[in-house]
Amino acid sequence: MKICSAISRSGGQGKTTTVFFTALLLARQGKKVLAVDADPQANLTFYLGHEVQPDEPSLFEVLTKQVEVEDGVYSTQYENLFVMPADRGLFKVSDFLRSSGAGALILTQRLRKIHDMLDVVSNGCTIFVGTRG
Ligand SMILES: Nc1ncnc2c1ncn2[C@@H]1O[C@H](COP(=O)(O)OP(=O)(O)OP(=O)(O)O)[C@@H](O)[C@H]1O
Ligand SMILES: [Mg+2]
Repeated sequence: MKICSAISRSGGQGKTTTVFFTALLLARQGKKVLAVDADPQANLTFYLGHEVQPDEPSLFEVLTKQVEVEDGVYSTQYENLFVMPADRGLFKVSDFLRSSGAGALILTQRLRKIHDMLDVVSNGCTIFVGTRG
């Protein structure tokens, strides 16, 4: 599994835009790509045309282990490109991650189940995961 990150120390520097188009490009090249939106602003989720419904698992439920990782994966309008969406409620996950003692590792642990199939591109707030298919 490969991890690429787009990181900036201040907001609005183009992280989400960069990784959105990177994911799109990889998907168009035939790789199966999962975009994991780890930002409560949910811009990546919006770019991918997804809206989290009240009864739908998102990244929050995956991180807090209320569902299996696969249950947070949805197809998008783009071939080969899938999304693990975010919504405003994701801000609550900070307390959970802080108190867990292993916050930075939880997403990696949760994705381990599908590890063999994946490349990962991350921008700090937004994380992309793509299969090598
Ligand atoms: N290469 C670029 N050239 C010009 N404008 C860009 C470029 N990349 C992004 N933008 C614009 O800059 C703005 C901020 O981009 P984006 O939302 O991707 O930043 P971000 O770093 O993810 O922000 P945040 O920290 O709020 O998550 C958007 O309006 C976007 O359209
Ligand atoms: Mg962003």
